[in-house]
Amino acid sequence: MSYTQYMESMKEYWNIDSAAIQVLQAIIHAKKPKNILEVGTSNGYSAIQMGNIASRYGGKITTIEFFEERFQLAKKNIAEEGLSETIEVLQGDAVEIMRDFSPSFDFIFLDANKEEYPLYFTQAMRLISHNGIIVADNTVSHAKKLIEFFQAVALEPRATTLDLSIGTGLVIITVD
Ligand SMILES: C[S@@+](CC[C@H](N)C(=O)[O-])C[C@H]1O[C@@H](n2cnc3c(N)ncnc32)[C@H](O)[C@@H]1O
Repeated sequence: MSYTQYMESMKEYWNIDSAAIQVLQAIIHAKKPKNILEVGTSNGYSAIQMGNIASRYGGKITTIEFFEERFQLAKKNIAEEGLSETIEVLQGDAVEIMRDFSPSFDFIFLDANKEEYPLYFTQAMRLISHNGIIVADNTVSHAKKLIEFFQAVALEPRATTLDLSIGTGLVIITVD
C-alpha cells in the first residue's frame, strides 16, 4: 500500500492520529492496565496499537463496534497482527453493551459517536476501577459537539482532567 493509499484509509476509517496513539501507548506502557475497554473499533487500528503494548504484559482489550462490516474487518486485521488472544471485538451498540458490563476496567478509551459521549461517560464512570483512566478523543476537532460531555466531566467529583491539544484533541481523565 502506498503512503497516499494508507493516509486515505486512515481517513475512511476515522483512525486516531499517530501523536494521540503515542499518548495512549505511553499510558498503557506505564500503567499496565489489565482490562482495557475501547468504545469505537472501526477497522481495529487503535485497538491493535494499544494491543501491541498490552500483549507484552498480558493485558486484555475489549473493543466495541456498531457496524457489521467494520466489526468483521477489525477481527480480520487483529487476527493478522496475531492479537486475537489480546483483543476481543464485540459487535453492537456501545451504550447497551456497556450497560451489561460490571465494573472491571482500569483504562477506557472513548472514540465513537461524539453525540453519545455523555452516555459513554456515565457508563465509563460506573465501569472504571479505582485509580483508573478514561481517555476521550476529538476534544478539539469536535469541541462544539462535546459541550455536554465536558460539562459532565467537570461535574464529576472523582475526575481530574488533563486536556491535550495534540492531534484532534485528547482529554485524559484520571479517576479516584
Ligand atoms: C472514530 S471511529 C473509531 C476509530 C478507532 N478507534 C481507531 O482509531 O482506529 C468511530 C467508530 O465508532 C463506531 N460507532 C459509532 N457509534 C457507535 C456505537 N453507539 N456503538 C458502537 N460503535 C459505534 C463507528 O461505526 C466507527 O467505526
